[in-house]
Amino acid sequence: MDQQSAKVILDGNTYELPVIVGTEGEKGIDISKLRTLTNYVTFDQGFGNTSNCKSAITYLDGEAGILRYRGYPIEQLAEHAGFVEIAYLLIYGDLPTAEQFKNFSETFTEHSTLHEDMKHLFDGFPTRAHPMAILASVVCALSTYYPGIDSAALSTEEFDRVAVQLMSKIRTIAAFAYKKSIGEPFVYPRHDLEYVPNFLNMMFSNPSRPYKIYDEVSKALKVLLILHADHEQNCSTSTVRLVGSAHSNLFASVSAGICALWGPLHGGANEAVIEMLEAIQKEDSNVDKCLEMAKDKTNPFRLMGIGHRVYKSYDPRAKIIKECAHDILQKLGINDPLLDIALKVEKKVLADSYFVDRNLYPNVDFYSGIIYKALGIPRNMFTVMFAIGRMPGWIAHWKEMMDNPGRKIGRPRQIYVGHNKRDYLSINKR
Ligand code: SDX
Repeated sequence: MDQQSAKVILDGNTYELPVIVGTEGEKGIDISKLRTLTNYVTFDQGFGNTSNCKSAITYLDGEAGILRYRGYPIEQLAEHAGFVEIAYLLIYGDLPTAEQFKNFSETFTEHSTLHEDMKHLFDGFPTRAHPMAILASVVCALSTYYPGIDSAALSTEEFDRVAVQLMSKIRTIAAFAYKKSIGEPFVYPRHDLEYVPNFLNMMFSNPSRPYKIYDEVSKALKVLLILHADHEQNCSTSTVRLVGSAHSNLFASVSAGICALWGPLHGGANEAVIEMLEAIQKEDSNVDKCLEMAKDKTNPFRLMGIGHRVYKSYDPRAKIIKECAHDILQKLGINDPLLDIALKVEKKVLADSYFVDRNLYPNVDFYSGIIYKALGIPRNMFTVMFAIGRMPGWIAHWKEMMDNPGRKIGRPRQIYVGHNKRDYLSINKR
């Protein structure tokens, strides 16, 4: 392919910058040498036009509503694959053979429990502690119980172990955080249950109240975890990469990602959507009032679950989740008025020029809370569910970054707009 380039004319000088072309034809201007050549930097608040890496993990086309993990369309993976299978695909690059899958799955069982002393960490949190705070804290603390994971010198075997420890233990940490919040005894992982049923059992079974694991519930949760597994350079994944670029260990890097995901503009939106739908319900389901507030520039309110930095069409994940919500509520015989309100909001958004002109559509968070609610998962655990799903994506991107021999510590520039030089004045002269 002929080497393309971009010309930049600055202060009467012309500079040629190389153009990088991705496997799906995406083009980027390589500005790695811009400051050296021109003494200029670029400005791109929120990095909406800036690539921080080359990645082979996930491809998405926001205009066409396309999402693929390692080339496989999300629609096929959500329908046919398992979550552990997807984790292997994202982290190692290909779908596992039967033998690779067997070995990978067996290590999940081996690493599903927490060091017994870690139980005391949960005692230190107040009952009303948000489980995302517990998740971020306990994940970071994993490195104190499972040391020897100095990221810069991590061997293949050590990475494989740490990756599965995170993937497997995140369920246990999440379930223990939930049990702590309701004052019930911790339920330990079982060696005879697969990934999702094991998590459901830790969440909902109780010595005095056995929990029946229904296939349709496990399937619905599996689909949700797969749909959340990766989404290229979103806020939390970029955070994991940035923290990891300083050679922080994988536990610490993922803990930072959990904190980023907690934000209501990011993963915290699924919790905020249900709060919004319940608020509309209290207002006699006055959806129009909610839309007017969202369109009012003097009002900071935004429609939660609507809009996306990249998708300027319907989020392909939201389509699948919407169908799954109808399906699981019907199977469980649940009639949730919030689903009807959500459908009404969507219908009005898709017909309102304010939203249409800005390419604002339902995103992954708009319907997911309806399903979590139907499965009995409490609202403050919705973003925890997102974190469990996103774990393989975070691990895959951290690995891809650390495997890059040309990696550098992330350190963006700025445009300084503060005071020019001024001299110190003693306090009695100010
Ligand atoms: C996730 O990056 C990812 O991939 C994230 C994610 C993943 O898988 O990791 O997909 C998961 O985070 C999904 C997004 C969840 N967040 C929400 O649902 C919160 C509600 N949505 C918005 O806050 C907003 O849409 C964002 C944060 C998602 C995107 O914001 P952008 O890209 O910065 O868009 P913007 O603020 O530039 O908005 C463009 C215009 C603005 O109006 P104008 O200035 O042009 O007049 O659209 C308006 C915004 O005011 N707008 C909204 C809106 N979202 C954007 N107006 C009302 N309600 C909204 N929800």
